[in-house]
Amino acid sequence: MPETTPKGLTRLAFGGDYNPEQWPESVWQEDVRLMREAGVTMVSVGVFSWALLEPEPGRYDFGWLDRLMDLLHTHGIRADLATPTAAPPAWFYRDHPDALPVSREGVRYAFGSRAAICHSNAGYRAAAARITTELARRYGTHPALALWHVHNEYGVPVSACYCDGCAAHFRRWLAGRYGAGDATAAVAAVNEAWGTAFWGQRYGSLDEITPPRLTPTACNPAQQLDYRRFADATMRENYTAERDILHELAPGVPVTTNFMTALSQCDSVDYWAWGRETDLVTNDHYLITDGRRTHVNLAMAADLTRSVAGGAPWLLLEHSTSGVNWQARNPAKRPGEMARNSLAHVARGSDGAMFFQWRQSRRGAEKFHSAMLPHAGTDSRVWREAVRLGADLDSLAGLRGTRTVPDVAMLWDWQSWWAQNLEWRPSEDHDARERADSFYEALYDRHLTVDFAHPEADLSAYPLVVVPALYLATEAAGRALRTYAENGGTLVVSYFSGIVDEHDAVHPGAHPGALRDVLGLTVEEFSPLLAGESVRLTGPDGAAAGLTGDVWTEFVVPRGAETVWTYGDGPAAGRPAITRHRIGGGTAWYVSTRLDAAALDTVLAAACDDAGIAPRAELPRDVEVVRRTGDTGTYLFAINHTGDDAKVPLDAPGTELLTGERVAGRLAVPAGAVRVVRADA
Ligand code: GAL
Repeated sequence: MPETTPKGLTRLAFGGDYNPEQWPESVWQEDVRLMREAGVTMVSVGVFSWALLEPEPGRYDFGWLDRLMDLLHTHGIRADLATPTAAPPAWFYRDHPDALPVSREGVRYAFGSRAAICHSNAGYRAAAARITTELARRYGTHPALALWHVHNEYGVPVSACYCDGCAAHFRRWLAGRYGAGDATAAVAAVNEAWGTAFWGQRYGSLDEITPPRLTPTACNPAQQLDYRRFADATMRENYTAERDILHELAPGVPVTTNFMTALSQCDSVDYWAWGRETDLVTNDHYLITDGRRTHVNLAMAADLTRSVAGGAPWLLLEHSTSGVNWQARNPAKRPGEMARNSLAHVARGSDGAMFFQWRQSRRGAEKFHSAMLPHAGTDSRVWREAVRLGADLDSLAGLRGTRTVPDVAMLWDWQSWWAQNLEWRPSEDHDARERADSFYEALYDRHLTVDFAHPEADLSAYPLVVVPALYLATEAAGRALRTYAENGGTLVVSYFSGIVDEHDAVHPGAHPGALRDVLGLTVEEFSPLLAGESVRLTGPDGAAAGLTGDVWTEFVVPRGAETVWTYGDGPAAGRPAITRHRIGGGTAWYVSTRLDAAALDTVLAAACDDAGIAPRAELPRDVEVVRRTGDTGTYLFAINHTGDDAKVPLDAPGTELLTGERVAGRLAVPAGAVRVVRADA
């Protein structure tokens, strides 16, 4: 079994991407001195260093990295050493111009940035394997080495390449998926799966198939969906190839690659599959300042990361101390925000908090991106807060290895999301991610900690499971949900769920094919609303219920389900809007319109009642309370995102670890502060 925690790290991970190659070596001494001052325990090195490590094909210069690794070791700082394969050198492209990826429009990207990689390219694969092998041999037993960091954020920013090499690779992949390697046998199955009888797209041979490049009008959706799977699998092939080299040559050192689970930041990687391939799940998270509550988006990404890790501890490998530089407007974090962000990740399962990056760059594209050590130096708020955070994390070292306690589950599937985002759906105003965000936010506001689950997962551990817009649901997923409800679970399913199978083909019969049984209803027809239209719902007694929906309505026909709210107006006036089906020992709710936040909360309150989930004690909406538990005890995190002091009821008396105070009863959490209480045994 591979190791799953950074080797030799005995505290929580705290540090950042460290790019000393951007500085004269005289600066390195100051770096390690200041790292010690801040309590840094681990840094990520070498992420983009290929051109320095291999200045010419086959000629290596490891001198500087030797000195750096030794320096880190001397100062007791652990190294998360990267394979630099996200940034091939200029000489590589001179020899392999076809390794530059091609966009869907047929434009070849150029060198001069990073991550310009066609993952099917044999030259790239060979060169990546060589540099990985050299690094593994040289540093596999180095005493500073704690973790291998393969590549950087697969799938960001180029999600797929559409070149001729990828076309050939796609055909091989199709032969494997549909014909067990036999291209002739595969073609009939591809025609069937892609529904090529439609618009005369039938293929006589796999050789006729190309990537779903730019087409005059909507391109075959099943082909597009399979291409996304192929692109994801191709990146994963490259990741596992590097990982296997590292495992073989450097046994005992865990291997990771940094994910980007925030749904707004990477939409091209099926992290359910990737989570199974990493020894330690790591994630990068950046606040998107689009006017929404950034701490809710953060919590969602952290919960999703933990779920991808199967509930085990994971590690936040990158976030920012303050502003980023790649959004239209990049506000500085407010005082205390960095600590709240960091400790919210820890609350939700991260065994540490790391940053991009240690020292702010003077040159290059990211010189205005914040860092632990900013241009302003140590006489700065960011530095002082970083030092304080280092001390806080030090006092939390005991919780390493404990697990976050979930309350409820939400189904999420990247493949369903991909399918839903293709062209020509019933309404372009319907957005699967928006529904996921909204359902998550509603649960967050009820102070429920959410595990994400794959639609075919065993859900029996959860009293409540919510299913926002699971458009693609296999029959197996339908069966899993039915079993869950029959065995006493409570389910809340939103519209546009259970509609198609894995090939984007509508399940036979009335919608929602995969979920008709469990929901006890059929949908006769979708009737999405026009922009700006909304509908009112009436309650069980016929009175106006104060609930409104927009974007979507449909004609629901109950077949066992009871109608709880009815459409009061709009195209479906008088028909069921929200239903509830008693099935076996459980209950399945169905919501057929896009509810606003207040309406969604009303429905979730009723579902929580069914599930036996008592409302959480009176807590302000933006006071986040999460627990971790394990061998060393139970830890309650209280994160006050508001400008007012708050009181949080404690389950048990204990010790507040950041202040060292004894606490009992109601815990005082000052405005903007974080408190972590270890309950007395
Ligand atoms: C990450 C990336 C880092 C840095 C950072 C800036 O996505 O891995 O190298 O670019 O963004 O926010």
